[in-house]
Amino acid sequence: MKVLEASFVQGFMRMADQGWLQGWHERNGGNLSYRIRPEEIESVREDLKADGEWKPIGTRVPGLAGEYFLVTGSGKFFSNVLRDPEDSICILEVDAAGENYRILWGLVNGGRPTSELPSHLMNHEVKKQATNGAYRVIYHAHTTNVIALTFVLPLTDEAFTRELWEMATECPVVFPDGIGVVPWMVPGGREIAVATSELMKKYDVAVWAHHGLFCAGPDFDITFGLAHTVEKSAEILVKMLSMQPYKRQTITPDEFRALAKDFHVTLPEKFLYEKH
Ligand code: 13P
Ligand code: ZN
Repeated sequence: MKVLEASFVQGFMRMADQGWLQGWHERNGGNLSYRIRPEEIESVREDLKADGEWKPIGTRVPGLAGEYFLVTGSGKFFSNVLRDPEDSICILEVDAAGENYRILWGLVNGGRPTSELPSHLMNHEVKKQATNGAYRVIYHAHTTNVIALTFVLPLTDEAFTRELWEMATECPVVFPDGIGVVPWMVPGGREIAVATSELMKKYDVAVWAHHGLFCAGPDFDITFGLAHTVEKSAEILVKMLSMQPYKRQTITPDEFRALAKDFHVTLPEKFLYEKH
């Protein structure tokens, strides 16, 4: 089968376009990666070329040795993924040491995988282990309202989780483990990858201060839906803070506990602190 006919590739392109339509991907902002299943890579093997040069990932991911990924290219625009996928995205293979990659398909006009490849792969490695292989998608988006909040909320997991939970009743059901926050760091390297992947051991969402969001999930719909839910909640908080800087009423810790009981989720008590 041709790569572009495969349903995992079509799902990837559709998700990239959904993000573009939300306005989260100005210019080349954001990146997306998918850990390909063995039967999926076999189904497109005839369309792959294994003569590319091995290049350093920029970090070590031994837990992903021999895995295949579909990823967006560095400097490529999400707005072009559906229109010109062969120029915008690529399939890559990780070597047996988990230190190098080579391109097997895509990026036909040159270029390299996203500059955030270290963060994507280190997050994949953590999530593959933590979910017994169930999680396959890592998504980075420049979500406008989440970024705005990183200028006014304390940069703590507790503040972001609790404030965003309070903005929409279903938030604690969609992200019961909470949200992690990475302080401002230089993007694109190993240091921010290590900080993000530490948070991914506990959470499916990590905010990058003054930059955006990283989300992890088992498939394209769930991962995109998570980013969308977090960003929608952030939008409500921005609107609320713009109307008046305090809440006249909100969802209380005991109400969250009641919600957790009925919806069969566990909400960590560290997020249900009393406010003064
Ligand atoms: P890339 O174009 O290299 O994917 O970078 C975009 C981005 O959002 C960096 O954080
Ligand atoms: Zn970015």
